[in-house]
Amino acid sequence: MASKLWEKSVEVNHDVDTYTVGRDREMDLYLAKYDVLGSLAHITMLESIGLLTADELKTLTSALRDIHGEIEAGQFVIEDGIEDVHSQVELMLTRRLGDVGKKIHSGRSRNDQVLVDLRLFIRSEIEDLVHHIVMLFGTLNEQSRRYRTVLMPGYTHLQVAMPSSFGLWFGAYAEALVDDLTVLRAAYGVTNRNPLGSAAGYGSSFPLNRTMTTELLGFGSIDYNVVYAQMGRGKTERIVANAIANVAATIAKLAFDACMFNSQNFGFIKLADEFTTGSSIMPHKKNPDVFELTRAKCNKLQALPYEITLITNNLPSGYFRDLQLVKESFLPAFGELKSIIVMVNAMMAQVKVNEHILDDSRYDLMFSVEEVNRRTREGVPFRDAYKQVGLEIEAGRFSPVKEVAHTHEGSIGNPCNDEIAALFEKELSQFDFDTYHRAFSSLLGS
Ligand code: ARG
Repeated sequence: MASKLWEKSVEVNHDVDTYTVGRDREMDLYLAKYDVLGSLAHITMLESIGLLTADELKTLTSALRDIHGEIEAGQFVIEDGIEDVHSQVELMLTRRLGDVGKKIHSGRSRNDQVLVDLRLFIRSEIEDLVHHIVMLFGTLNEQSRRYRTVLMPGYTHLQVAMPSSFGLWFGAYAEALVDDLTVLRAAYGVTNRNPLGSAAGYGSSFPLNRTMTTELLGFGSIDYNVVYAQMGRGKTERIVANAIANVAATIAKLAFDACMFNSQNFGFIKLADEFTTGSSIMPHKKNPDVFELTRAKCNKLQALPYEITLITNNLPSGYFRDLQLVKESFLPAFGELKSIIVMVNAMMAQVKVNEHILDDSRYDLMFSVEEVNRRTREGVPFRDAYKQVGLEIEAGRFSPVKEVAHTHEGSIGNPCNDEIAALFEKELSQFDFDTYHRAFSSLLGS
């Protein structure tokens, strides 16, 4: 077995190694690219405080950039017997460069290394997620405009209630994404602070220049207090997981609506055939499995903040190995949500809506409030109009006028798609991804 970074005179027991490394060799691949970027910033800073010579910095920088290229090309592996990504990168440097490779770890610990890797990973995953949300928002708002005038029943208690429209239905989910983006922005703000330099959680006796690594990595600020920086492990993931869970909750509700409205008993929408699946026994079936799995996947994602809470809940301050387990459920969550969004976006873009739902007399009574309001506008006190219409309904004498004239903001006649798009754009404009892109380009010399 290859030795550990920390192995001294006692050899590590194989079973203990398997148990403690767990799935890290797989999980740390998500972090590899960011581990190298963190190291590039760290060594640049080490040179500036005299812990590396200019030549050593040059050699190390070029070797780290090579490793970064290998990671991007999918050629990077964490070898059997190597504990984690941090050990693998240091080992590769030492193999390629000899003793100078052993110098890069001055003034840091794997604890702040994994902290910074996670922050960099999250930042770029949030950016990618935001792009997916932009796409879905665009589709939903577009469908809202397209079907603005097509009426459908609105329900309370799943009882036919009042007229609604497809414009409102699609638009509601578009606007939901505005709020989800606001929360994601906050999560991004929490993430965009630099924990590097907190080392094992108590700083270092080297005169580290943390302002410098903060700028080199394009962070918005330092996570100043070294003890707090370490406390951010688990907390950051929980906050981000909450933001992920909000998006998942929006989509889960949409998925339930879609399954229900697609059922023959509703018949409000028709999913494109390619998004339905058949039955092995019933030849007529076109099941909405894609939306059902979407709903379940989104519900699973909503469990994530709770899972992280339970793993980290009763830890005091300071690093604990417990934190490693958070990676297993947290790191794959972004990919999961993005694949959900791609599928939902395609389905919502192609869904057909039934433009004749209201021809069915079972929805007649949803116009009762329209009639009450019409009489109220003519001067009948609201309560009296309500009673008149109620008695007509009871006597089977109510015949609806199937027209609506809602004008206020956010109503059937005025769904405010432009205003909602403007709100969305405003939230979007507050994400600053350019700063870190510029920082990464200069670290990588690209
Ligand atoms: N794999 C570890 C984690 O994810 C890396 C940090 C190891 N640090 C330690 N003190 N054992 O937390």
